[in-house]
Formats: sequence, C-alpha cells, structure tokens
Amino acid sequence: MIVVVRWRIILAIAALLGGSVTLPVRAEHIAVIGTGEVGSVLGKKWAAKGHKIVYGSRTPDADKVKQVVKDTGHGASVTTPEKAAAAADMVLLAVPSPTAKDVVPKLGNLAGKIVMDPMNYYLPVDGYPGPLQGPSLAQQVQTWLPGAKVVKAFNTFAMKMIEDPKLAGGPITVPIAGDDVEAKARVGKLATDAGLEFLDVGPLTAATFIEGMEQLYLGYRMYHRGKGKGFEFHLRPVPDTVFPVR
Ligand SMILES: NC(=O)c1ccc[n+]([C@@H]2O[C@H](COP(=O)([O-])OP(=O)(O)OC[C@H]3O[C@@H](n4cnc5c(N)ncnc54)[C@H](OP(=O)(O)O)[C@@H]3O)[C@@H](O)[C@H]2O)c1
Repeated sequence: MIVVVRWRIILAIAALLGGSVTLPVRAEHIAVIGTGEVGSVLGKKWAAKGHKIVYGSRTPDADKVKQVVKDTGHGASVTTPEKAAAAADMVLLAVPSPTAKDVVPKLGNLAGKIVMDPMNYYLPVDGYPGPLQGPSLAQQVQTWLPGAKVVKAFNTFAMKMIEDPKLAGGPITVPIAGDDVEAKARVGKLATDAGLEFLDVGPLTAATFIEGMEQLYLGYRMYHRGKGKGFEFHLRPVPDTVFPVR
C-alpha cells in the first residue's frame, strides 16, 4: 500500500513538472506487435536496457523474424500477436496503419494495459500530405481496445535516427499524449531508454496534433524533394511567463 502511494506521489510530481522527474528503475514486459523497422529498432533498444521483449508476429517461425529475435537478444522471444499482447503489460503497435483495424481488435482484451501507438498515415494531394481525416489513429485504437491505456508516442521521427543517433545531430523529442498519467510516465521512461527526450503534451485528444506533426515532418521532405532536406523535432520546454494560460 505504502509502495503504491509513494509511486503515485512520484507520478504526480512528474506530471506537474512536465515529465522531467527521473522515475525509479522498472523493467517492463513489452509486447512488440510487428517485427518491421519500428518494432525491431525499439525492441532492441529496450531489451538492451533490461526490459523483457516478446514480439508478436504473423509468422513467428520465419527466418527473418527469428533473426530479429536473435539480434534483440537479452532473453527476447516471439509468438503470435495475440499471445504476445496477453503476456505483456505494455504493447507497442508497430504495424502499418491500414492494417490496424484488422490487427488491433484481434489482440484480445487489453483492458488495464498500456498500449503505445506509433502509427502514421497520410493521403497525398498534389505531392504533399493532405488534411488528416476523422479521429486520430490513437483515438481509433482506444475504441478498438476499451479499457486499455492508449498513449500516442514514437511516431514523429525516423527510426534510423535512433539506430544511429549521430544522424540527428542532437536530441530528438518525442511528444506523447494519453489520458492516464502513470501510463505516460512509463512510456516517457521508455523514450529516454531509447535515447530520446519526451514531452507530455496532453490527453489522448492531443494525438491529433501529434499525428499532424508527422505530416509537417513528411511534408517538409516532400516539399524539398530531391534537395536532401529534413529535420527532427527538438522541443525546448520554457517557463510559461510570456503567454501564460489561465
Ligand atoms: N519506419 C519508421 O521510421 C517509422 C517511424 C515512426 C512511425 N512509423 C509508423 O510505425 C508503423 C510501423 O512502421 P514500420 O516502418 O515498422 O513498418 P514495416 O517495416 O513495414 O513493419 C510493419 C510490421 O507489421 C507487421 N504486420 C502485421 N500485419 C501486417 C500486414 N497486414 N501487412 C504488413 N505488415 C504487417 C509485420 O510484422 P510481422 O511480419 O512480424 O507480422 C511488419 O514487419 C507504421 O504505422 C508507420 O507509419 C514508422
């Protein structure tokens, strides 16, 4: 009981300070659904920091999937997406967004678990991202997984940047959004374990803005196509004295 109360006090302080408090070391049990670029890059980073990784793959016996597990090391394993999600406390949805409506509801009852959504989509119009349509992907995930603690995270940078941090030329900030403060603190810790900074930007409704950031990120590259131009987000928190919101 005392442990729970102490944990909640730490999380409340973390929320007040915008997530800048170092949380106690805690090994997470994470189901990484999808063994593509996002799943394998984050899975390896987290496993190296002591988290327990179970991949969920459509083809757990495929050679390329076995190779991802081997490269991840640190006791990582692989099974089906449903079994991986059932076994873990946190779930990363590292799948293509057009497949999400089929893949995600089949993961089973994830009520009470933390579900991280790094997915993006864009509809090009004249060679530039068109307007986002309807509710954010993260809000759709929430409707497919009632009771899950959905957090939008890890969608606003290229995975190659954390595979090779020198490419980014400095820190990368991951904006995160969700309705559960403890869930966001634990996702934020995973961000720092992957070599990233994080900024809690608000409730799950803010996922719309974070998905919009990816349109800006991608749109910049599309607008400057062929010129080798890109950027990474580095958000600098400042005191709210110039334009205070009351
Ligand atoms: N790549 C990036 O730098 C990056 C950065 C930020 C966000 N994202 C977003 O993160 C998500 C994953 O991106 P990614 O680059 O990791 O994609 P990816 O390399 O194509 O991998 C996606 C994985 O999803 C699994 N999957 C499940 N159902 C699938 C289906 N019907 N068709 C294809 N794959 C299926 C596959 O793993 P199994 O074969 O093991 O089932 C596949 O390897 C996307 O929504 C993307 O927008 C990507």
